[in-house]
Amino acid sequence: MALYSEKVMDHFRNPRNVGVIEDADAVGEVGNAKCGDIMKMYLKIENDIITDVKFETFGCASAIASSSMATELIKGKPVAEARELTNKAVAEALDGLPDYKMHCSVLAEEAINAALDDYFSRKNP
Ligand code: FES
Repeated sequence: MALYSEKVMDHFRNPRNVGVIEDADAVGEVGNAKCGDIMKMYLKIENDIITDVKFETFGCASAIASSSMATELIKGKPVAEARELTNKAVAEALDGLPDYKMHCSVLAEEAINAALDDYFSRKNP
């Protein structure tokens, strides 16, 4: 069996929503101290709906695929729904990740939550 699903390979080779949103309403950056990988999420939010999302990931194939998939899953969604997104849901949407690569999808969940924390702290300083 191949190590990675076709979806993982597709999102790794052609990541969706890569880049920076200069006038983002929220930014979240997280890292994994063990592997040194870093993920940054930028959100554009209007009336509590995520209208745009971009990411920069310096990391492994699974981290890149996870961030790409995570952006697809939260784009156009209410912030409350994005808050509920788990790393498991990201991995499932990718048709699975090897067990020892599940922590890479955690980075995507954490980056979104860090960005949402930033959004709420800007809203209610
Ligand atoms: Fe670091 Fe995948 S090995 S996030």
